[in-house]
Amino acid sequence: MALCAFYAVWGLLLKVTVAFGPVPRITWEHREVQLIHFHESEVSNYSTFLLSEDKDVLYVGAREVIFALNAVNIAEKQHELHWKVTEDKRTKCAVKGKSEQTECRNYVRVLQQLNDTFLYVCGTNAFQPTCDYLNLISFELGGKNEDGKGRCPFDPAQSYTSVMVDEELYSGTSYNFLGSEPIISRHSHQSPLRTEYAIPWLNEPNFVFADVIRADQNSTDGEDDKIYFFFTEVSVEYEFVGKLMIPRIARVCKRDQGGLRTLQKKWTSFLKARLICTIPDKNLIFNIINDVFILKSPTLKEPVIYGVFTPQLNNVGLSAVCAYNLSTVEEVFSKGKYMQSATVEQSHTKWVRYNGEIPNPRPGACINNEARASNYMSSLNLPDKTLQFVKDHPLMDDSVTPMGDRPRLVKRDVKYTQIVVDRVRALNGTIYDVMFISTDRGALHKAISYENGMHIIEETQLFPNFEAIQTLLLSSKKGRRYLYAGSNSGVVQSPVAFCDKYTTCVDCVLARDPYCAWKPLEASCTDTFKESEIERNWIQNIGGDASSCSDKVRENSLQHTFKHGSTAELKCSQKSNLAQVVWKFKDDVLRVESPKYRLLEKALLIFNLSEGDSGVYQCLSEEKVKNKKFSQVLAKHVLELKKIQHTTVGPTTAVAPTEDSEITQLLFVTNLCSVTLSG
Ligand SMILES: *[C@@H]1O[C@H](CO)[C@@H](O)[C@H](O)[C@H]1NC(C)=O
Ligand SMILES: *[C@@H]1O[C@H](CO)[C@@H](O)[C@H](O)[C@H]1NC(C)=O
Repeated sequence: MALCAFYAVWGLLLKVTVAFGPVPRITWEHREVQLIHFHESEVSNYSTFLLSEDKDVLYVGAREVIFALNAVNIAEKQHELHWKVTEDKRTKCAVKGKSEQTECRNYVRVLQQLNDTFLYVCGTNAFQPTCDYLNLISFELGGKNEDGKGRCPFDPAQSYTSVMVDEELYSGTSYNFLGSEPIISRHSHQSPLRTEYAIPWLNEPNFVFADVIRADQNSTDGEDDKIYFFFTEVSVEYEFVGKLMIPRIARVCKRDQGGLRTLQKKWTSFLKARLICTIPDKNLIFNIINDVFILKSPTLKEPVIYGVFTPQLNNVGLSAVCAYNLSTVEEVFSKGKYMQSATVEQSHTKWVRYNGEIPNPRPGACINNEARASNYMSSLNLPDKTLQFVKDHPLMDDSVTPMGDRPRLVKRDVKYTQIVVDRVRALNGTIYDVMFISTDRGALHKAISYENGMHIIEETQLFPNFEAIQTLLLSSKKGRRYLYAGSNSGVVQSPVAFCDKYTTCVDCVLARDPYCAWKPLEASCTDTFKESEIERNWIQNIGGDASSCSDKVRENSLQHTFKHGSTAELKCSQKSNLAQVVWKFKDDVLRVESPKYRLLEKALLIFNLSEGDSGVYQCLSEEKVKNKKFSQVLAKHVLELKKIQHTTVGPTTAVAPTEDSEITQLLFVTNLCSVTLSG
């Protein structure tokens, strides 16, 4: 693709004005839902999480502190460890031109489980990255102070990712003080390995995620476990004025030992490819990857990789989620074409598809049974030709395309930062992948794919101060599912659903939330994953068909008196952003656009009240799902015009009557049904 193509794309991008993406059905304000918070005064940057599901402990790495919190209730702190920079190191760091108050501190960046008793931890330590072993029994550091170069960035502002696989640490970070030397490395006592320091291998990468995908146990090909890295880097293959960013997936093999002569102590299995997340017919290109989650579930044939993306020039605020199946990724690495650099006009290099002969064994492939049968027992035996090829051709020409060839979700006016995905079985047996996606404004979106579209069940304001969510973690232990979100100011624990907020069957079903079902006998909406047994009469319909609901209306009346000519305020609140409020007066739809009325968010105002305004007012919520309309009466107000002598008034007086015996007053009788009504 050439320069002009990208220009055309961005030209169009600026003009995108149509509304993109589904509207979240419910918006939960911060104070509306019960969340658990953790933060300590004087402590900031709660950026690194590690969850121990068997111990029910959430470890949190912040600036100069590591906490152990009760994962069931994070407000309960079990341990804390201060890990401060020495005075001497701080001064030296400041001399090198870094800020003593902010940069020259210790930001915890690696928090990995080594074994039952130790965590492996690394911090930036005033631009001298250091790693140590945290004893979980005493909650103290071993004092090893290992050099953390290549495992942890020097600069707290730089990107990093790591994963622990069989007691070996794999990390993506930068290797020097300036942050100019990127590296993907394995830290192990037997065979430490790293990437070549060369532009074709890594070109100013911004690391976002790493994880292991184990080889299929039932397969007979003897394949190796693979470690995948996700990052955005500056493109070498496209020419562009300025830097064009490209989202990448890279992978290495777990049993890689490096080469004997060529690629000594370097990966022999490092390959990378472009991840595609575009909408071709709208010319939208999402080329910055912000986070990844790999969904691995026993009910899945193969893992699915979910990524959140934004465009490089994001002046309209677009975000997208793309999903990739693992077989597509493996196909690109095991069968795809490679790219090769060619020199044109003396000094200028151009990357083109390599169509020549490919050495055998295939460059970058893991050692499997086929290689072993040809006597290549380890990467140390690989022929120079294969190794030289992979050294020069780490980039694949073929790209990884998303499932369905387009994003799962595109949303406007939001910047998505992190993603986690839960796989749940609805009551009727259908499986849904529930995506939880955080924003840079402290909110969380919960979405499911449904038929050909996406439904955003809810948007929850996890942080009251609208700051960016930087870390998101899901605990999906049986019967106990929580989300943990981290920001600069603290940690929030949230349940995965707020079923008990739905007070009618219609509301519970219209939520289309696979975690929630209506229990008719108890008349309550419940989280089915917290129940020990599922009963057959529970009502749930992810399609949103609420016809099997039979909600009873509980009547409840209130009286108000009003002065003639005054204004009445009839309250009615409606939670669903997908529903419409309709007011009825004496069974006819009220023309609220007339100047006599004003429709507010949670009320109807009627001005200049007179005799003709007495009667029954009903507030209805109408929600359309797949051409079916469900309406519920949210509130019923009876307005009665009465001539009142002297100062007789109803029980609640809105406007104090005067001494005049001839005042006409309005008497309100308000019928409240059981549906949510504004307080
Ligand atoms: C740490 O948090 C502060 C706000 O408390 C923020 O300004 C700063 O950028 C954060 N630093 C890093 C490295 O995330
Ligand atoms: C993986 O995704 C590709 C592209 O959408 C599709 O053709 C293929 O059938 C998928 N494979 C599986 C096993 O789902």
